[in-house]
Amino acid sequence: MYEQISHSLLNDILTQFKQPKGEDWQHFYTRLGANFYAIHSLFQHLYGQRADFKEQLGKLVNVLAQQYAQRAPHLRAKDLEREKNHDWFMQQKWVGMALYCQGFAGNLANMRDRLPYIQELGVNLVHIMPLCDCPELQNDGGYAVRDFRKVDARNGTMEDLEQLIAAMQQSDMLLTLDVVVNHTSDEHEWALKAKQGDQQYQDYYYMYPDRTLPDMFEAAMPEVFPEQAPGSFTLNPDTGKWVMTVFNHYQWDLNYSNPAVFIEMVDIVLFWANKGVDILRLDAVAFLWKKIGSSCQNEREAHLILQLLKDCCQVTAPGVIFIAEAIVAPTEIIKYFGEDAINAKECEIAYNATFMALLWDAVATKQTVLLTKGVEDLPEKLDRATWLNYVRCHDDIGLGFSDKAIIEAGFDPVSHRRFLVDYYTGRYPESNARGFAFGVNKKTGDARISGALASLAGLETALATQDQSAIENAMMTIILLHNLIMSFGGIPLIYYGDAVGTLNNDSYLQDENKMHDNRWVHRPTLDWEVMALRNEPGTVQQRLFSQIKQLIAIRKEISAFADLNNRELITLENPHLFAFHRFVQTGMHSKVVVVANFDTSPQSVPLQSFRQKGLFKGAVLTELYSGQQIIPESDFLTIPKLTAYWLST
Ligand code: GLC
Repeated sequence: MYEQISHSLLNDILTQFKQPKGEDWQHFYTRLGANFYAIHSLFQHLYGQRADFKEQLGKLVNVLAQQYAQRAPHLRAKDLEREKNHDWFMQQKWVGMALYCQGFAGNLANMRDRLPYIQELGVNLVHIMPLCDCPELQNDGGYAVRDFRKVDARNGTMEDLEQLIAAMQQSDMLLTLDVVVNHTSDEHEWALKAKQGDQQYQDYYYMYPDRTLPDMFEAAMPEVFPEQAPGSFTLNPDTGKWVMTVFNHYQWDLNYSNPAVFIEMVDIVLFWANKGVDILRLDAVAFLWKKIGSSCQNEREAHLILQLLKDCCQVTAPGVIFIAEAIVAPTEIIKYFGEDAINAKECEIAYNATFMALLWDAVATKQTVLLTKGVEDLPEKLDRATWLNYVRCHDDIGLGFSDKAIIEAGFDPVSHRRFLVDYYTGRYPESNARGFAFGVNKKTGDARISGALASLAGLETALATQDQSAIENAMMTIILLHNLIMSFGGIPLIYYGDAVGTLNNDSYLQDENKMHDNRWVHRPTLDWEVMALRNEPGTVQQRLFSQIKQLIAIRKEISAFADLNNRELITLENPHLFAFHRFVQTGMHSKVVVVANFDTSPQSVPLQSFRQKGLFKGAVLTELYSGQQIIPESDFLTIPKLTAYWLST
C-alpha cells in the first residue's frame, strides 16, 4: 500500500542509510516497499508516543537491511521459490518430529548420524528443542536462554549445527528451531546489566522498586507454574527490585513496550533465519504484552507485536515461517494466525492444542461427543495457515477445551476435568493410564497431565501385567491417535520416542534440577538398543513403528490430506465414532472419509448417514491404509475397536 506519511518517512530513513555491500538489493527494496506501510502503522501504534519514535524506526530498518546483507544466496533463492509457491507448507508431504537433540542423539554432531532413522519413518520436518546457551542448572529445558546467538556446549557447537543444517537441506528436510521471545534467563547479558543497575537494561524487563505494581499485576494474572514457581514476580537481591517472572523465577519477562526489545528480537529472529532455519517456533507468544488488570495473556498488543515481526521477517527472509506456541483457549489460539491471510498476518502455523486435548478426552471416555463438539466449535482458520497436530509434546497436556463445549457434550466442567486427571493419573478404577498431575493449582483446583504417550495410553501397565488384550488395546490407541493427526488437516508432529512406544522415564527424579518438574518424565533419553527392536518382527517397537511408518507413507499419497480448509465434520448417531470428510478438486484420493472408533468394541453406523451427504455412493469402499476393499453389510458400516479408517469411494 502507498501512503504518503509512511512513504516520506521511509524516504528520510533511506536517505541516511548506507546500503551494505553486495548485489541483488532489488528484492529487499520491493519487499520493504510492500511491507512498510504496515510496519510503520504497527510501530506507530505500539511506540508512536515516544520522542525517539523515528530514530527507533530507522534502527529497525537498519537491522532488516544488515540481516538481508548477510542472507546467503541459496536462502535468497529459497525465498523467491517459496514466494512463488506460497502454499508449500500446507502440502500433505510434510510430517514432523519434535525432539531434544541430547535425548534423541546425545548432541548435534550425533544427530546427523540419526537422520536416517528419521527418514526411515518418513519424517521430513524436525523441530529440535531449544539449543541456545543457557545456565547449567536453572534452564527450563533450554527455555531460559543466556545467549540467543550461541549453541549450548552440551548440544555441541555452531559448526555442528551448520553441518546438520547442510545435511538436512541436502535431504529436503525442514528444520524448526525455537526463538524464546517472551523471556530470557536471569543470566542473560541484558539481565546481568540490569542487575548491575544499568537503567537501559532494566527497561528491557518489568522491574519495580516495591510491591505496588507487582500486586496490581498479580491480582489478575493466573499462575503458570503454581507448584514450582508461584506468583509472577521475583525479588532480585542485587537491585532490591521486583522483576516479572511469569514462568520460573529465573525467567525474566521481556518488556515489549520498549522498542529496543522488539528490535533486538527481530535481529535474533533474522539471525536464525540466516542460519538456514525454515520454521521458527515462537515460544509463549500469548504472554508478549502485559497490562495491569488483565490476565496478561492474548492481549491485542501481543498480536500487533507478532504482526510486526511477521512483516519485518517478510522483508528480509520471506521464505521463513513462524509457529505460534500459544496453548490457550480454542477461540484465542486461532487468532495467532492473524486477522487476515495477507494483511495483519501473524504466524503461519499454530499448535492445535484443542484437538490434542479433545483426542485425550475421547480416549478416556471412549466417546466422541466432546471431540465432535470441540472440533465443530473450532473457528475456520485463515487461508495460508495450518495447524500443527500433535498427540503430545514436551509440555504437559492441558485440558483446554471450553466449558461450553463440555456442557453441551453433557458433562459438568469441573467434575469432567477432575475425571480426566484421575483417569490419566491412574486413580480412576478402570484406567490403565500412568500419568502424573502437573501444575496442580490448589486455589482453583486446575491440573494438567504429564506422562509419555504410551504410558498414558495404558501400555506401561499392560506390559507390566503382561495382559495381552490390554497390550493390544494400548497399541491400537497409540496408532489411532497418530492416524488422526495424520488425517485431520495440518502438519502432524510426532514426539520423539513415540513411534516405538517409549514409556515414562523417571530418571529425572535423581536430578535435583529436574525433580520438581514432572514434565521430564516424558522427555526421554532414547536407548538405541531398544530403538533397534523396531527391526525385530513381533516386538512392540516393530509393530508400532511399522504402522506409523505406513500411516506416514499413505498420508503423503492422499491429495485430500493437504490442508486447504477442506474438512467437513460428519456428525454420527453413534457416540463412539468420530468422522470427517477431506476433499480436494483433483489428485490422487481427492475424497476421503475418516471414521474413527474410540470404543474397545466394534461400532456400526448406518451408511445412510454418509449417503445423505452425497458420500459412499459406490458398492465398494477402499480403506486406504490397509488397501482392504470393504463391502458394507446390510447398509451398515462397522469399524473395528480403536481403529480409524481412511475410506475412499
Ligand atoms: C513454552 C515451552 C515450555 C516452557 C515455557 C516457558 O510453553 O513449551 O516448555 O516451560 O514456554 O518458556
